[in-house]
Amino acid sequence: MKKYSDLQGNDASKISEQVAEKASALACRMENISRKIAIVSGKGGVGKSVVTALFAKYLVSTGATVGVLDADINGSSISNLLGATQNAVQKTDNGYKPAADKNGIFVMSVDYLLDVHKSFTGNTPTWLGAMETNVVRELLADTDWGSLDYLLIDTPPILSRVGDIKDLLTELDGAVVVTTASKVSIKIMLKTLRKLAEMKVNVLGVIENMKELKCEHCGHKNDLFIGENVGKAVGYLAPYLGALPFVPNLEKVAIDELRDVFISAVDKNN
Ligand SMILES: Nc1ncnc2c1ncn2[C@@H]1O[C@H](COP(=O)(O)OP(=O)(O)OP(=O)(O)O)[C@@H](O)[C@H]1O
Ligand SMILES: [Mg+2]
Repeated sequence: MKKYSDLQGNDASKISEQVAEKASALACRMENISRKIAIVSGKGGVGKSVVTALFAKYLVSTGATVGVLDADINGSSISNLLGATQNAVQKTDNGYKPAADKNGIFVMSVDYLLDVHKSFTGNTPTWLGAMETNVVRELLADTDWGSLDYLLIDTPPILSRVGDIKDLLTELDGAVVVTTASKVSIKIMLKTLRKLAEMKVNVLGVIENMKELKCEHCGHKNDLFIGENVGKAVGYLAPYLGALPFVPNLEKVAIDELRDVFISAVDKNN
């Protein structure tokens, strides 16, 4: 077996050179992107990917050019939410051309490279620790994003990953934090806000997701999580951007229905 001392001189693995090369390719790509925004929560399943999709739809409706990076490489869902599963990425001399949804939102996910959308066997790799960061670095560097107004980054529910992504990008313009009104989600959201402040990440605001469910018979709206006021809990720590209702069968019902609610919630609170 080789020892570290064997990896010197002509026989070196040149790992650090490879990482430096990728980092400089990534920096070149990022130069053409005006704003990079991560969608974050310390807690899983609160709606980061749904909010990423809605935010992308909102921005593209204003005429902006928008890309979405699926940085949740072990739990990808954004390409499904945007309905961008047919349009596979294409390899060119300038890297991968990202897929696009019907509105022209560019999407890059490791799922495209594994052809998960064509035949999902469940037999896909899992990347942990440094390997996870490597894959995200490669996705960012190898994608021909062109020139974008916004790159939204759908993150996994692990805060240290947000730190890794921030380091990769050298400049992260801000984060949108997603929470529900459950006690535990609010507790984790507050911890997330503190941690992001420590990490010097600018929090653009907090979105409350799955706030209420409208009765299909009488139209009365019932809170899904009782007794907690997210806006109050957020206080002065960050802007409270608004709340989204729970829409049953979200993946079957067009997600576009929620887009309008998202826009009016965000507009009302700004
Ligand atoms: N407003 C909503 N109405 C109905 N269903 C929703 C809503 N928001 C999210 N969901 C559903 O809740 C589940 C979790 O949402 P989502 O995948 O966006 O969460 P996440 O925070 O990205 O999860 P993860 O931490 O695993 O990445 C999904 O099945 C999604 O369709
Ligand atoms: Mg997600």
